[in-house]
Amino acid sequence: MTTVSLTVNGKAVSANIDPRTLLVQFLRENLRLTGTHVGCDTSQCGACLVHIDGKAVKACTTLAVSVDGAAITTIEGLAQDGKLHPMQEAFREHHGLQCGFCTPGMIMSAVDMVNRRGHELDEKTIREDLDGNICRCTGYHNIVKAIAAGAEAMGKAGVTTRQAAE
Ligand code: FES
Ligand code: FES
Repeated sequence: MTTVSLTVNGKAVSANIDPRTLLVQFLRENLRLTGTHVGCDTSQCGACLVHIDGKAVKACTTLAVSVDGAAITTIEGLAQDGKLHPMQEAFREHHGLQCGFCTPGMIMSAVDMVNRRGHELDEKTIREDLDGNICRCTGYHNIVKAIAAGAEAMGKAGVTTRQAAE
């Protein structure tokens, strides 16, 4: 067993875990943050995406101990003061989900995309950048629309990487 200490959605957490524990297991099983999903065992689907120190990372291929000391943001950490993050609101508004299984990963990926590529995202850029996320309901058309709208809304609301990561 080994100790891991992280800041998750702004709260300090510390636990004694098996060193083989994956970050996604730690989030779901130890912290009960079940919005981060596991949709494959080949690191392809992106359902497990979280932000580590503000950057999108697949939590299914990350050992919890390897990110000791980091700040993690999960889908549960995006809404602030009971208000949805602009990207969450855009997915709701533009029907960017069907069963919703891929949605947390899509949204974490989308926020990261805006942080890296800016607030004006065209369809081609969004489709290329979503390469690491799979929607088994194949609702890509509305997901792309939602991301473009969410990116613009993040710009208007002045939402930054740092705010999303805190
Ligand atoms: S569960 Fe991580 S990429 Fe599919
Ligand atoms: S909405 Fe069902 S997997 Fe994407």
